[in-house]
Amino acid sequence: MASAASSLGGPGGNERFNQEAAAWDSNPFVHQMSEEASKALQKHVPGLQSEGDAKKLDVLEIGCGTGLLSFMIAPKVHEVVAVDAAQGMIDVLKTKIEKSDIKNIVPVAVLLEDPEDPALPPADGDVPNGPRRKYDLITSHLVLHHIPDIKPVLKTMLGCLKPGGELGLTDFEDFGPEAKRFHPESKMGGVYRHGINAKWMTALMQEVGFVDVDVKVAWDHNKRVERWPGEFPPGEPIGDRGEKMNFTYVLCTGKRAEG
Ligand SMILES: C[S@@+](CC[C@H](N)C(=O)[O-])C[C@H]1O[C@@H](n2cnc3c(N)ncnc32)[C@H](O)[C@@H]1O
Repeated sequence: MASAASSLGGPGGNERFNQEAAAWDSNPFVHQMSEEASKALQKHVPGLQSEGDAKKLDVLEIGCGTGLLSFMIAPKVHEVVAVDAAQGMIDVLKTKIEKSDIKNIVPVAVLLEDPEDPALPPADGDVPNGPRRKYDLITSHLVLHHIPDIKPVLKTMLGCLKPGGELGLTDFEDFGPEAKRFHPESKMGGVYRHGINAKWMTALMQEVGFVDVDVKVAWDHNKRVERWPGEFPPGEPIGDRGEKMNFTYVLCTGKRAEG
């Protein structure tokens, strides 16, 4: 079985995101979809709805990219630990934090495979080598389709949650063979599945040990897709090329059992 590390380290994965990091935020699509993910999460997670208790939540975002979703969540929570396997993405995020008033985002460059990874913040700042912090909420947006084997990553997420802590993962839905059109030919590197199938994901989350599992469509969006493979050359804005196709996006929720 290929580990997440080995696959993302290849030419299609991590390298691609390092190259794309500097221009990532210039694509309106990634902003729109992060906003939809943020809205979907706020509807589902009570702690994100009211400014009052919300500030208590410790959040871990896996595959944060340049931190688009992290910046939307951070004002409502205690702290967001934002991890990404691509150092280029984390470098852009660090620059954005420096220029922002929002300071409660902790960027970490790591391919997360172990809840006790020393790169993660410790539970107790006075014991830097002690157990790692546990979280009230774990998010990840448009990341699951880049992970070759989701089961070990779900196990890692379970291990990062506090008892009763929640998972809220968003990605496009695998609604059938046409879902393949989500990515243009030039961006197929590092894509391990064409979206998330709700039935399959529900079963997997339950198998890993999450409780109160629910995987449902949370929003939809018309995306420009290629009419033929290669219509959108790499590095060029899509503009009004291609054709529009409707994609649905799922919110995958579940909890770590109490106690
Ligand atoms: C399509 S990008 C999405 C970035 C961001 N969530 C957004 O929507 O703008 C996927 C990101 O997930 C990261 N990634 C994929 N698998 C990962 C893993 N196991 N651990 C950490 N980051 C991962 C990649 O490096 C990449 O930056």
